[in-house]
Amino acid sequence: MSSGPEKDWQQASCYLNGEWCALRDAKVSVLDRGFIFGDGVYEVISVDQFQDDRGSYRAPFQIREHFVRLQRSLDAVRIANPLTIEQWFDLTAEVIDRNPWQRQLVYVQVTRGIAKRDHPFPSGVSPTVFVSTSPWPLISNEQIEEGVAAVTHADERWLHCDIKSTSLLGNVLMKQYAIDQGASETVMVRDGFLTEGSSTNISVVKNGVVSMPPKTVQILPGITVDGIARITQAHGVATEVRPVAAEELRTADEIWLSSSGREVLAIVSLDGAPVGSGKPGPMYRSMHQWFQQGKQADAELWAMLRGRSSACAPEARTR
Ligand code: PDD
Repeated sequence: MSSGPEKDWQQASCYLNGEWCALRDAKVSVLDRGFIFGDGVYEVISVDQFQDDRGSYRAPFQIREHFVRLQRSLDAVRIANPLTIEQWFDLTAEVIDRNPWQRQLVYVQVTRGIAKRDHPFPSGVSPTVFVSTSPWPLISNEQIEEGVAAVTHADERWLHCDIKSTSLLGNVLMKQYAIDQGASETVMVRDGFLTEGSSTNISVVKNGVVSMPPKTVQILPGITVDGIARITQAHGVATEVRPVAAEELRTADEIWLSSSGREVLAIVSLDGAPVGSGKPGPMYRSMHQWFQQGKQADAELWAMLRGRSSACAPEARTR
């Protein structure tokens, strides 16, 4: 894998139903219910590289939270979890180890499995388990320093957005809506209240108070936004979990988006109008710093609990 992280992602070593192979060679049946019905759930886990006195190592961020949420999603769609949480940890460690990138996004998907196309749950079918990874590019300094643009749209998705389902057509259409307007995210509103972004959670800052919508069926219970709430509380920042009216988006001092892949970014323009000063605000700057410190602490915990099983491959150290 010497041709650079963007080119060789298809050679990533991935896991499919007990076997390891190159991502480009991994195949599932067209009868897989994930393909036919979007009948599956997933997780995306970020992996970063850290340093300690013994050198560099890689660690997944908030891994336990991700597999607790996977269990919740599986329960919600009544697919039996094929693995224990320890087995999930081992698989995640292995996919990280088998691949060279310092920063990765691990993707985990479980579908109901392969069956004749028919809507009812099939019996006697084993879930399809797929774990892969890809290079996770650095979040650019420009995005951190300058923020990103967003647009708003009515939330037209179903009412089980709390399940991390692979049926993401509504989200895909909303992401493309943003891209088509030269923005980076669509912030959705339902019945006059903020729900979430197409692939992010949204928090609003006004007069030093950080507010985020409650966890209902209307939004994904994001692991990154939970981290934000823990961090603000730990630093004595007033934090409210409450319905956020759409109008509050127009008068907010700051708006943040958050997800495993994008961490926390400031939304500096909404529907073409500046948010606050039109620059990432002071609360965002603190949050960004605190978030990086939180990642470091989480990585140290992983290294302590797992040993250094996810130490960087020698090849990756030179990147
Ligand atoms: N998306 N809301 C939606 C609709 C999402 O798809 C995501 C994440 C989030 C943030 O969740 P978390 O902080 O746990 O990553 C909120 C992932 C990254 C994706 O689909 O690629």
